Amino acid sequence: MDDEQLRAQLTLPRFPRSAAYDPRWLIRNVMGPNPLWLLEELTARMPLRPGMRVLDLGCGKAVTSIFLAREFGVTVWAADLWVAPTENLARIREAGCADRVFPLLAEARELPFAHGYFDAVISIDAYHYFGTDDFYVGYLADFIRPGGLLGIAVPGLRAEIDRVPEHLRPYWQWEFASLHSVGWWRRHWELTGKVGVLDAWEQDDGWRYWRHWCRVCAQAGEDETVREASRHEARMLDADEGRTFTFALLVAKKPEVGGT
Ligand SMILES: C[S@@+](CC[C@H](N)C(=O)[O-])C[C@H]1O[C@@H](n2cnc3c(N)ncnc32)[C@H](O)[C@@H]1O
Repeated sequence: MDDEQLRAQLTLPRFPRSAAYDPRWLIRNVMGPNPLWLLEELTARMPLRPGMRVLDLGCGKAVTSIFLAREFGVTVWAADLWVAPTENLARIREAGCADRVFPLLAEARELPFAHGYFDAVISIDAYHYFGTDDFYVGYLADFIRPGGLLGIAVPGLRAEIDRVPEHLRPYWQWEFASLHSVGWWRRHWELTGKVGVLDAWEQDDGWRYWRHWCRVCAQAGEDETVREASRHEARMLDADEGRTFTFALLVAKKPEVGGT
């Protein structure tokens, strides 16, 4: 696929901001479903203002952190466990954002910040790795100022399941047990009272966007490992036809005072 074809494939009317980013750069830094499409959808319902202090939790290769700084003028702490901050700094500098995006190594369960430090925490395709623990949202809320925001976008399920659907058996990975429905996430957060859910939704046609991204990466991925993993994921989504997998997006607000 040449550059022009690739750009055409990744220019979708639904995600105009994402379309402005270099497709080769995006694919070179792929770690899962297109993080900019998820972030663009999330932030359309999350009021971010210039100057806000935002934690990008599980930022991976900091693609989302760069997008947040550029699109919204926020200051971003780009925190990740698997990707080294030195590697992310090179990408952040190259994108001209080093004055507004600060990379660091962080374990989500041992965050090195003061309580009340952030105006918002955002997590794209990462929160399910640590956030299914009943106690986690209460722990994380401590780092958000009163009235601050929490927004996540994660791969999820249309509805909770008790067993692996037959059609997904050839593709199932044990880690999929961390995927949940929007309703599950909403209940999980609301019962704590630590945050109030403002909005919770499934991405319309989310599985089709996911599959489209996989198909593009299957052709344009930089190495055969990426191309084969993408082909495999596209086949899984084909077999599922939107019956099981989706994306769950939630925006919540920490109470202005208290939060029991
Ligand atoms: C699938 S990648 C997504 C990365 C990025 N947000 C994106 O969408 O491109 C999941 C990320 O979650 C991070 N992660 C997983 N467990 C974590 C933990 N306990 N603390 C911090 N980050 C974690 C990993 O380091 C990884 O970069």
